[in-house]
Amino acid sequence: MLAIIGGSGLTQLANLDVSHREVVRTPYGEPSGAVTFGEICGRPVAFLARHGYGHTIPPHEVNYRANLWALWKRGARGIVSVASVGSIRADLKPGDLVIPHQIIDYTWGRRSTFHEGQDCSVTHIDFTEPYDRVLRQKLIDAARATGVPFSDSSVYATTQGPRLETAAEIDRLERDGADLVGMTGMPEASLARELGVPYAAINVVANYAAGRADSRDGISFEAIQLVLHESMAHVRTILEQVVNGDDPAGS
Ligand code: HPA
Repeated sequence: MLAIIGGSGLTQLANLDVSHREVVRTPYGEPSGAVTFGEICGRPVAFLARHGYGHTIPPHEVNYRANLWALWKRGARGIVSVASVGSIRADLKPGDLVIPHQIIDYTWGRRSTFHEGQDCSVTHIDFTEPYDRVLRQKLIDAARATGVPFSDSSVYATTQGPRLETAAEIDRLERDGADLVGMTGMPEASLARELGVPYAAINVVANYAAGRADSRDGISFEAIQLVLHESMAHVRTILEQVVNGDDPAGS
């Protein structure tokens, strides 16, 4: 079964035919909300709103471990993250969709591993490619099939939030090689890897990052809401296509 974690602008999946909701208890505390189960185009899908269904949990307070564990425990064998981002690159403009290929992690103080505690032996994971190659390709194929324009090569920088960045911080991220900036990509991606669950992301460019293009003098939150509302329709179409092409034997 494929699971979808929805971010800002995607707290519900309108195309999900809901069968039930389940509050999943985890050894890591409470997930952001009940997991919603249902079908898209006749295929089973689980959905979780990263910031809670009322959008009340800020990026640094999301219980990423509980979210990932709950989805895995309830049978997710692939997770697609949907999240909004700021664009550092001039050619990635608000409304554009991106399937990123790399991550840089600038977060701090987040519970970022399942492998901790007295009884846990030291465990490392390979994270050279942070997104699952096969699931990422499925997203790319689905986006191509729907005809929705997208970019498939971008480095996603995860900042701590909840404040947005300064213009100088964005300059630094660019020098580091980042194309996009968001606040939730980590530790979500590495926790999925620790669980052995394929994980890939679709990012929606909500705004130019601080100090860039029309965000030169500040970022407009009203404009972000408008962009997200429009672009999430494209995301839903891609998700339908991904789920449709999902191998039922692998579900
Ligand atoms: N910075 C960080 N996270 C974001 C942004 C941004 O500009 N836009 C949407 N999520």
